[in-house]
Amino acid sequence: MDGFRWVSLIFFTLCMLVPTSSWSNSFLTKEKLTEIPVKFLDLAKETELLNWMVGIRRAIHENPELGFEEFETSKLIRTELDKLGIAYKYPIATTGIVGFIGTGKPPFVAIRADMDALAMKEAVEWEHKSKIPGKMHACGHDAHVAMLLGAAKMLQEHRNDLQGTIVLVFQPAEEGGGGAKKMLDAGILENVDAIFGLHVSSSYPIGVVAARSGPILAGSGFFEAVISGKGGHAAIPQHTIDPILAASNVIVSLQHLVSRETDPLDSQVVTIAKFQGGGAFNVIPDTVTIGGTFRAFSKENFMQLKQRIKEVITGQAAVQRCNATVNFHEDDMPFYPVTVNNKILHEHFKSIAGEMLGTKNIKEMKPLMGTEDFSFFAEVVPGYFYHVGMQDEAQGPFPSVHSHHFKVNEDVLPYGAALHASLATRYLLEHQPEYSSPKGSSHDEL
Ligand SMILES: *[C@@H]1O[C@H](CO)[C@@H](O)[C@H](O)[C@H]1NC(C)=O
Ligand SMILES: [Zn+2]
Ligand SMILES: [Zn+2]
Repeated sequence: MDGFRWVSLIFFTLCMLVPTSSWSNSFLTKEKLTEIPVKFLDLAKETELLNWMVGIRRAIHENPELGFEEFETSKLIRTELDKLGIAYKYPIATTGIVGFIGTGKPPFVAIRADMDALAMKEAVEWEHKSKIPGKMHACGHDAHVAMLLGAAKMLQEHRNDLQGTIVLVFQPAEEGGGGAKKMLDAGILENVDAIFGLHVSSSYPIGVVAARSGPILAGSGFFEAVISGKGGHAAIPQHTIDPILAASNVIVSLQHLVSRETDPLDSQVVTIAKFQGGGAFNVIPDTVTIGGTFRAFSKENFMQLKQRIKEVITGQAAVQRCNATVNFHEDDMPFYPVTVNNKILHEHFKSIAGEMLGTKNIKEMKPLMGTEDFSFFAEVVPGYFYHVGMQDEAQGPFPSVHSHHFKVNEDVLPYGAALHASLATRYLLEHQPEYSSPKGSSHDEL
């Protein structure tokens, strides 16, 4: 792709078509910086906008689509962008969409939502339950889309006040498929100066956000190994090479990687989640397949784990007279890098979220062993990923993500939309190119 030079053309055309009005009472100015977050939250909570977001979220929830198959979800988003008069590029990475609001000129700041669902059955009985057997929005990506569209709607209404360009990123396949990497490879972050992403969270109350500077989510990879022996009668083991016992030893040996080879103060995980072999009580099978995931908080530790997993599996299998092949499935399940939050954007986030929600509602969180493919974006441009609380005891429990009982508290939608809009507009205002900055510009604040 040859960058986004075509963007200016689209903008020019749109500006000619969409009647413009001047916003003399705009709140998107440097003079009113600190009012922006609260203003956006007020706007996002207005009944009309809230209901619109709820409707979008429910429509997507009823029709969950897996990674790279988000065709209807993508269509719904494009329909709304069309209605709003927002220019976009499609398709990127099969179903992905990148929209643009503002001047079409620098600075460029991106806000991102993921669109995919999970291959699991919804156990929540409600009016808008998943209509697709075996698929469910159990990670809240339906809400993420609704929030980003909510932000887009507010931003588009104030497009003439934007001092730069806001890039809307709707990405496919966060749940293991690495949709972010494919979007990145398509060049969507060329010219982009910073990117923000969020996740709904059942660990924090509604009105509370949580994040941290530096590593926030682990790097992750998957592996699968086939351990081959020689099958035969279970009562005549001397004529067989037993892959079940070999695989068992492999699994025990793998547990030593974290317990004996890793700094106890450093967090890593090696988990075997799959063990398949044999089908009869009296037959030793020819092969066993095992598989699992490994996680670490630095690239070095991650690569070290990867190498040792391979060595331990093949070495330990050999001790048991078996052969083993190890496959890391990098093609369809790319390694997710560690998600690292930019230090300067952390200050940006704390100041804006603090003004919107009060500083006591900004929580510093511990890193989680979970992963996010947002990390691909944050490896290339300064990135920031945060959690938006949705617990509310009055509304009952909200089980955590990837549970069959997962529920989104729809009251969270305005918070996500307002945070997206505020983080992006403030970023633009605070990162104006030097030539247009007045003396003592707010650059230093960041
Ligand atoms: C392991 O591989 C070697 C070399 O290909 C082969 O000779 C041997 O039979 C294999 N052993 C098992 C148990 O499959
Ligand atoms: Zn998930
Ligand atoms: Zn998720």
